[in-house]
Amino acid sequence: MKTRVLTGITTTGTPHLGNYVGAIRPAIRASLDPNVQAFFFLADFHALIKCEDPQRIARSRTEIAATWLAAGLDPEKVVFYRQSDILEIPELCWLLTCVTAKGLMNRAHAYKASVESNQAKGLEDDDGINMGLFSYPILMAADILMFNAHKVPVGRDQIQHLEMARDIGQRFNHLYPSQPPWFDLPAAAIDESVATLTGLDGRKMSKSYHNTIPLFEGGPKALKAAVAKIVTDSRAPGEPKDAQQSNLLPIFQAFVSPEQTAVFVDELAQGLGWGEAKQRLLAAIEADVAPMRETYDQLMAKPDDVEDILQMGAKRAREIAVPFMAKLRHAVGIGAVSTGTGTSTTAGSTSEKRKGKAAKGPRLVQFRDEGGQFRFKLLSTHGQTLCTSVAFTDPKQVGVILRQLEVRHDDVAVKAEGESTYVLMIDDQTVAHGPTVEPVAQRESMLAETIHALKELAV
Ligand code: TRP
Repeated sequence: MKTRVLTGITTTGTPHLGNYVGAIRPAIRASLDPNVQAFFFLADFHALIKCEDPQRIARSRTEIAATWLAAGLDPEKVVFYRQSDILEIPELCWLLTCVTAKGLMNRAHAYKASVESNQAKGLEDDDGINMGLFSYPILMAADILMFNAHKVPVGRDQIQHLEMARDIGQRFNHLYPSQPPWFDLPAAAIDESVATLTGLDGRKMSKSYHNTIPLFEGGPKALKAAVAKIVTDSRAPGEPKDAQQSNLLPIFQAFVSPEQTAVFVDELAQGLGWGEAKQRLLAAIEADVAPMRETYDQLMAKPDDVEDILQMGAKRAREIAVPFMAKLRHAVGIGAVSTGTGTSTTAGSTSEKRKGKAAKGPRLVQFRDEGGQFRFKLLSTHGQTLCTSVAFTDPKQVGVILRQLEVRHDDVAVKAEGESTYVLMIDDQTVAHGPTVEPVAQRESMLAETIHALKELAV
């Protein structure tokens, strides 16, 4: 199985060179690995938490989508989508919200930092804090758990959110047991080999420090102007310079080979002027950025093309999210009210149902028991036994029942029996028994899963 790598990009702001080197480039490189299935998405629901300016949100999402595409993201290979196109994500977010301890959210760094800053200002603890900020980690957990991501490339500031996603996923797995569990537990992937790019003043390049170099915004001119502003010491041309101490080297290094870096270091030691050095830096960045900028400009001129690509990604994402969410609804007991199998309306269209069947789905298997009699079992997608039939002396009888289960689903019913099991009936005849499951809530969830499985098998 491929490793599922997933990451979200909050759609506020315009990508700068630091975002490119620190996040975009490594993520795209990772997505090219044939053993990886990558999911990259625009976290626009998250963006609403921090930004109430619709124009800025809208502009940022187009710019960010165009940036990733221009930087080489292959939308045929990567599932590239907009979070808000997958409504199953906020739906899952709610299921997760209901199993998340409030205390866990109280401990989130971002929330605590806001509270502390309010306290420092003598304001009420929760002044200006919306519920979006407070429950931000739950939405992020839904993003990740929906696609059962194994690895989540993020910055260090997001490590706690990943821990919370694991906690929340584990809690759900525990409350609604299934085999295998509903959610794989994701791990943060922090790439140690990717240095954070420094900005104009040598501190980490960040919008909040106002020390960024633009990636595409403003074209070659803006790039040149920013490079000119990189802070250097006052050594004149001809004077030896220590490259390791300069703010140029970390940026230069990010765009050239180690050999080219060594030459640069050498030349500075021999007195290369800062003006000359900046020209070399500019040329190195341009060599990488100019071809991408061309693609970027084309995409920005045709936002409909960007939209088409996002819609294609949304379709692929929903092929996973819709059937998974239908199962999760049943697991928590909010599927359609029905003990028959032919009347439920929640599990999506017939075509989705067919697709589910062609893929790995629930199965009916026939077997001979120790007494030599003939029986069948209904197995869930995960291979769990949902019910086992009564014994028949003739295998043909089993065949008849299996056929009935597939075509006469209106006459099939699954009914609770006592507290800890259920039975499968056709025309009021018991044909199979569920296993003994406790507590009642767990029995309800298996009963619902059985109904759901039969519905999937129905033709
Ligand atoms: N919180 C992330 C950030 O600010 C963005 C994000 C939202 C995300 N959902 C995610 C990242 C899911 C990884 C996985 O960078």
